[in-house]
Formats: sequence, structure tokens, C-alpha cells
Amino acid sequence: MITTVLVLIFLIALLYVGFVIGRAYVINYSWNKKLEHIPGVTQFLPVFFPRIPLFYKPLHYDGKVYPSYQSVIKKHGVKGVVRTISYTNIMISVYGPESIKHIIVTNAKNYPKPTGSIYTPFEIFGSNVLSANDDLWRKHRLLCNPAFNDKHLNMLVDVANQTMIDLRGTNWNQDSFIVDVKKTMTQITLQIMGLAAFNVDFNALHGGVQDFDKTRFRSSFGDALHRVSNQGILLRAKTNGWIRNLPIKVFRDALHDIHDVDLYLKEMIEERSRSHIYESKHDLLSLLIAANHGDVKTGLTSQEIKSDSFIFMFAGHDTTSSQLQWTLWELASNQYVQDKLREEIRQVLGGNQHISFEDCDELKYALCVIKESMRLHAPIEVFFRQARNDDVINGYKIPKGASLRVNIIATHMDPEHWPEPHVFRPERFDGNNKINQWAYLPFSLGTRMCIVSLLDLMAKIDCNNWEANLV
Ligand code: HEM
Repeated sequence: MITTVLVLIFLIALLYVGFVIGRAYVINYSWNKKLEHIPGVTQFLPVFFPRIPLFYKPLHYDGKVYPSYQSVIKKHGVKGVVRTISYTNIMISVYGPESIKHIIVTNAKNYPKPTGSIYTPFEIFGSNVLSANDDLWRKHRLLCNPAFNDKHLNMLVDVANQTMIDLRGTNWNQDSFIVDVKKTMTQITLQIMGLAAFNVDFNALHGGVQDFDKTRFRSSFGDALHRVSNQGILLRAKTNGWIRNLPIKVFRDALHDIHDVDLYLKEMIEERSRSHIYESKHDLLSLLIAANHGDVKTGLTSQEIKSDSFIFMFAGHDTTSSQLQWTLWELASNQYVQDKLREEIRQVLGGNQHISFEDCDELKYALCVIKESMRLHAPIEVFFRQARNDDVINGYKIPKGASLRVNIIATHMDPEHWPEPHVFRPERFDGNNKINQWAYLPFSLGTRMCIVSLLDLMAKIDCNNWEANLV
């Protein structure tokens, strides 16, 4: 009996896997036909399958085979558009100023964010400013924008100053110390984002211990939020609905975290709305609640506010942390840049350990350092769009429904716009070099660009008294 059941389960699993592979093959085969005229990779199975010669033709162009798409570009002078495969489906990878400007500005209406795939996992708490399109997106963006004006960003500088004081209370007050850069930058950004987004102290620099009601929650807000923005979204991205509900520990834990975050946010929104606390607070959640009061024709629902505030945390935390890590890496690897930056900070701040919003404007070299670090190590390397209707980009027909991957990093590395693209040289941005504004887009460009351009604010990094070396 048990053997029969096991055999049955095995057969069903086999059928399911066969169906998934077959479906992917048919979809990719048909897209490959539609995109045959674009040079690039041909593969009919999702990338996690080994490349079986019978099932794929390697990179080809005009019937010839090439080892990489860079070699096609080099040999044939193809610009801006390459057929490629991303995880499971055939996509058009787009890079370079002309093609990018066409997609995100000139003909942006034809290229919404794809629905039902890449951006769906971000809807873990419902529709939001990052994943929505058209009128729904306009509603979100209109109500989220006020939270990011200069006055409120000013408040972020205070939060950052406070966090730096906290940091000096840890081993950072010693003459010389070793930093686990990934861990520390994650803690710093988590602490800042907790205060900035929710006015909640995650105590991230001191082990993240927070009091919470253990009868109703499994974890503290900070812990649950941190895990959901890392693993929760990943889980939703990688697993189908019914798989997520299997009694497997990692899935169960993720669902508990999602439940906890949902409840914490729900209660915060209810409490702040009821008691009008939002009027005196300047964190993003309170500002979002405030924007929804008063003369608003179609405001956001509580669910939408919850989803947007989660997205701020999700979109702002890892990106900023990764950015700080790479900037420190470059400073530690380039002594000349580090010395020049320290000198500028000393001149602007004098002996002052606090930085003001206005000081940021004076830190011109710091801004160049950050810009160059974001060119070489853009925290978001690519983003995605889908063609609504047939179109033409750089002479190539783009059929309706095609998936596009806008390649930030390939554009940042294009030697035509960035001589010696792999070299870290902040002076590129000192105003003496002509820069094509469409060749630089760490925060994207156009109407769907990042809601907060952090470049000015990030110039506040305090390295007045610190010297960074790699160990
Ligand atoms: C170094 C830090 C950051 C980088 C490099 C960055 C980069 C980007 C990029 C490339 C996009 C476009 C994504 C797409 O089209 O799919 C984007 C969108 C967005 N970012 Fe950021 N971001 C950063 C920090 C932040 C922070 C701190 C927040 C919020 C607190 C934030 C909130 C958003 C939101 C809400 C969107 C969606 C905007 C829309 O579609 O209207 N980001 N960001």
C-alpha cells in the first residue's frame, strides 16, 4: 500500500515537473521565434537546466556562433539591444543612452512594469508605488511624494547624526578596529530606516534586541521586517502559492514573519490615525498617513499605506547598505581618494561631529565619490519593463508583450561614455567632463525613477576622523 502511494506521488511529481518544463519550452520557443531578428542567446529551457545541445543554439548572429554577447556587439557594432535569457524567460536586454531614454521617457507609456511576474512578489502586502502601473501608480506616487521633500529629508540627517553618535558608543570609539563591513552597514541602514520609515528604534547597533508582546507576536518588529524584506520576498518569488503552504520549517517561519509584520503595521496605522500622532511625527509612515487626510479626492487605503511603507523599507535598506559597503571598499582601495575626501570633510565641518543638511551642498568631492561608486557598483543593476504594443528600438522591431531588461550596469560600463570604465575615478563627476545624462542612471530616470535621490544625503557619511584599510 505504502509503495503504491509513494509510486503515485512520484508519478504526480514527475508529471508536474514535465508540465513545468514543457510549458517553459513552448513559451520560450515561441518567443525565440518572435525575437529571432535580434542578436543574442537562444535557449528554450529555463537557465537552471543544463544547456543540452539539442535544446539550445548558443549565442548566434547571422548564423555564426559567438562565446558571449559582448563579442557579438564588438564584432558587428550592434548597439543597445541584445536577446538574452533571464532566469526562466527570453528577454531583450537594453542598454545605452538612446535605447534607455526611449523606454523610460520618450515612449514610456508603451513600457509599463511587467505584471504577474517579477514585480508581483513585492505585492506581499498589496498594491504599492513600486509595482503598480498607470492610474493606480499615479495615485500612490502622488501621495507618497510629499514624504520625500527637502524638509523631511532634512529630518533624515538628524536621524543619521544620531546613529553616528550611537555608533561611537560601540567599538568605533577605539583608535583602531576591524569592521565586518557587510554586517555593520546592514545594521546602520536598518537603524536609520527604522527611525526614518516608522519612528521605531530597532536597536540595530546593539544586537537588535527589542521588547515585544510575545503572546501575540513571534518576533520583534525589526527582526520580522528584516527577514521579510530579505527572505519573505525571495520565497514568494521562488515558490508557487501551494508550495509556500507546505509544512516545511523555512516556509512556515516566513509566513509567521509576514503575519507579524502585517499586524505590527496594521496596529501602527490604526493607532497613529486614531490618536492623530501622525501630525507631530516626521517618519515616512506618519507622513503617508498625513498625506491621506485633508483634501484628498482618492486617498490610499490602510492596506495600501501598509504596503507602501513596507516598500520604502524594502527598497531603501539593502540598496543603501550595499552602496555604503562598496563606497568603503573603494575608499580603502584608493588611498589618494580617501585622503582627498577626508580633507574636504575636515574643511567643511571643521571640528564639528554633526553634519547639517546645508553642509551636504558643500561636500562636492564626497558627492563625486558616491556617484562614481554608484556607477561602478549600482545597487540595482537591472530593472524590467514589458512592451504594450509593437515598437522599434534602435532599428530592431520589439513585438507586443516582449519582456525587457533595462541594463543599468552595462550602460555604466560602456567605454564610449566612460573611458576606462573599470577604473574608480570620482573626478569624472567634477564638472570638467561632459557626461551624457542618459548614460548614468543608478536611481533610474523619468517618471518611474527612485522616489528619493539619495546622492546629496549620502554625502553626509562621516569619515572625518576615520581611516579605512582593507584587511
Ligand atoms: C542607494 C540607494 C537606492 C538606489 C540605488 C535606488 C534605486 C532605485 C531604482 C533603480 C529604482 C527603479 C526601479 C524600477 O524601475 O523597477 C527605484 C525605485 C524606487 N525606489 Fe529606490 N533606490 C535607493 C534607495 C531608496 C530609498 C531609501 C527608498 C525609500 C525610502 C526608495 C524607494 C523607492 C521607490 C518607492 C521606488 C519606486 C518608484 C516608482 O516606481 O514610482 N529607494 N530605486
